[in-house]
Amino acid sequence: MLALNLLALVTAVAATDSTSSSAAASPSSSAAASPSVTDVDILQYALTLEHLEAAFYKEALGKFKSSDFASGGEQYTLFQQIAGHEQTHVETLTSVIGADKATKACNYSFPYTDVAGFRSLAQVLEGVGTSAYLGAAHYLTNPAFVTAAGSILTVEARHSAWLATTNGEDPWPGAFDTPLGLNQVYSLAAAFITSCPSTNPALPVKAFPALSASTASNLKAGQSVTFNLPSTVNSTSGQLYAAFLTGGTIEYAPYTVNQSVTIPTSVNSTGTIYAVITSSNSSVTDDNTVAGPAVLQFNGAFPRGV
Ligand SMILES: *[C@@H]1O[C@H](CO)[C@@H](O)[C@H](O)[C@H]1NC(C)=O
Ligand SMILES: *[C@@H]1O[C@H](CO)[C@@H](O)[C@H](O)[C@H]1NC(C)=O
Ligand SMILES: *[C@@H]1O[C@H](CO)[C@@H](O)[C@H](O)[C@H]1NC(C)=O
Ligand SMILES: *[C@@H]1O[C@H](CO)[C@@H](O)[C@H](O)[C@H]1NC(C)=O
Ligand SMILES: *[C@@H]1O[C@H](CO)[C@@H](O)[C@H](O)[C@H]1NC(C)=O
Repeated sequence: MLALNLLALVTAVAATDSTSSSAAASPSSSAAASPSVTDVDILQYALTLEHLEAAFYKEALGKFKSSDFASGGEQYTLFQQIAGHEQTHVETLTSVIGADKATKACNYSFPYTDVAGFRSLAQVLEGVGTSAYLGAAHYLTNPAFVTAAGSILTVEARHSAWLATTNGEDPWPGAFDTPLGLNQVYSLAAAFITSCPSTNPALPVKAFPALSASTASNLKAGQSVTFNLPSTVNSTSGQLYAAFLTGGTIEYAPYTVNQSVTIPTSVNSTGTIYAVITSSNSSVTDDNTVAGPAVLQFNGAFPRGV
């Protein structure tokens, strides 16, 4: 199973590299059918996410004080370090792209009211950031950019692991992380962006309709969950599926608009799993995505049974 996942990942990346206009599906996400995407597009895309993360931490550290956090303020100090990393990522990417051309910060709205909500959202953002770098890496043609992006990716992954344990969840849910496509990531980020400078360069991305889940935490295989589609989505033609993206694997369950889905027993992972609604039960591509992703947390507390 693991060998298969890895093979699928490597094959998909190789296919995308050799035929950049190929519509072949990525094993777990939506890198498919991408228009020509340049290295600078990917750096701008990364910078868009880094601006969002930097603004998120800056706002929270201004809103809360050290004594609001556990462990005698140690958490606050660690969050200050994370905030510093994100700001450094912003500055580094800006200088690589060139300050005149680099995309600028937007205005954001982050839905948390207390420290626990902030920490949960931080975990989501770091997880999405990790999956974003992972899913975008294969677009980069300049090896120096691959190394630079990789050195950001590993730090985001460690932020993510620390946040998971701080929030009482698995630091490393499985042997593989989940790569997310450009549009999947942008769909998640767009929910927090309220307005951007009109001078920002257009990115080759679009947001899919938002997907919400009736229950988004402590989910388990076999459990029922309802995914709600916005009424604006034309989704009445043909059978739809809920696709659960976990590591290099996708599991599918039949889906009827706004009705409950039974999570397949094969989705027995822990940690963050992304769900999208698609019109296919054999691949997830930009073309067959109807809505999502939604961010789901599986199997709750960690460590379990000790
Ligand atoms: C951000 O919001 C402020 C206050 O509403 C507004 O003045 C400013 O133009 C906005 N900036 C962007 C980049 O949209
Ligand atoms: C699905 O549920 C959402 C949220 O309750 C609602 O806004 C939407 O109109 C519903 N969609 C359809 C197609 O019934
Ligand atoms: C949904 O379908 C109707 C009728 O076919 C069309 O007018 C409308 O623009 C479609 N909406 C979306 C969001 O595609
Ligand atoms: C999880 O699913 C895999 C196959 O998808 C299976 O091999 C494994 O036994 C399952 N584990 C549990 C605890 O159900
Ligand atoms: C996938 O969809 C096809 C129809 O498009 C159907 O025949 C098949 O049974 C489905 N497979 C699963 C596992 O749902």
